[in-house]
Amino acid sequence: MISQFAPAKVNLTLHAGPVRDDGYHPLDSLVVFADWGDHLAAVASDKLELTLSGEGAEQLEAEGNNLVLRAAEALRKAARLPVFAGAKLHLTKAIPMGAGLGGGSSDAAATLRALNRLWHLDWPLDRLIPVAAEIGSDVPACLHARPLRMTGRGEIIEALKVWPVLDAVLCLPGLQVPTGKVFAAFDTGEPTALPPPGDLPSAKTAKDALAVAAAGRNDLERAAISVEPRIGNVLAALNGAPAARLAGLSGSGSTCWALFDSRAQAKTAAEALAAAHPEWVFKPVRLAGTR
Ligand code: C5P
Repeated sequence: MISQFAPAKVNLTLHAGPVRDDGYHPLDSLVVFADWGDHLAAVASDKLELTLSGEGAEQLEAEGNNLVLRAAEALRKAARLPVFAGAKLHLTKAIPMGAGLGGGSSDAAATLRALNRLWHLDWPLDRLIPVAAEIGSDVPACLHARPLRMTGRGEIIEALKVWPVLDAVLCLPGLQVPTGKVFAAFDTGEPTALPPPGDLPSAKTAKDALAVAAAGRNDLERAAISVEPRIGNVLAALNGAPAARLAGLSGSGSTCWALFDSRAQAKTAAEALAAAHPEWVFKPVRLAGTR
């Protein structure tokens, strides 16, 4: 059996430019991954099958068009494998759908990593990226699952060389904010420009990383708040949390994050926030750094 972790994705910055002719937006985003997420297990089989358990599994089952199966089929096609090249896949969900944490994208990426091994393809990541990009804009980033800069429409990935572990609290307010809707609202607002390409973001200490994150922004924030005004309340709550250093929106929302100086502070803040806002879920996490 091959097991793959599908971590939650967090955008610490997300710069977006005006919509391109193909309907996508050019992005420049600093992306990190939590020590919390879904798990995918794969065993060889002559059929492609998926079973699900965990948070929201019933809802996903009803979807039919699960990204895990789409990823498996896309890889099978790209590798020109016969239809009887299958796998029994089991996905244990923790990341809610539509949370802006790239749950589906991370599941698809974990599937590509698992089947790349199970089917003895052993392709390097660079060869898997076009397959990943076909499934969704965030899937190439999730394939790397390490601190990175993402550009293009999401398919250009540069791994950061030096980046520290960060202590954070994620707030999952359970508000469904469709990505396409947020981008459509973004298109009606003041146009924003991407920052000049510059050097890869780099930080040795958490303090340096905070400064890098604080110097950037999430260009989708205003649009996401216009689609779902309660996101503004979530950000205000996180910004006001004891010892919170910086708060922001992940992706197109609705999940928001706050950074802290220590794990203990993140835990204390998550407890205080949960007591004040029982309607939202708060999760203290560590955002992995480079080795
Ligand atoms: O690629 P994916 O299907 O995950 O993207 C979902 C939606 O997000 C797209 O249909 C598009 O509206 C928007 N999007 C975008 N620019 C990107 C990525 C996504 O406009 N770079």
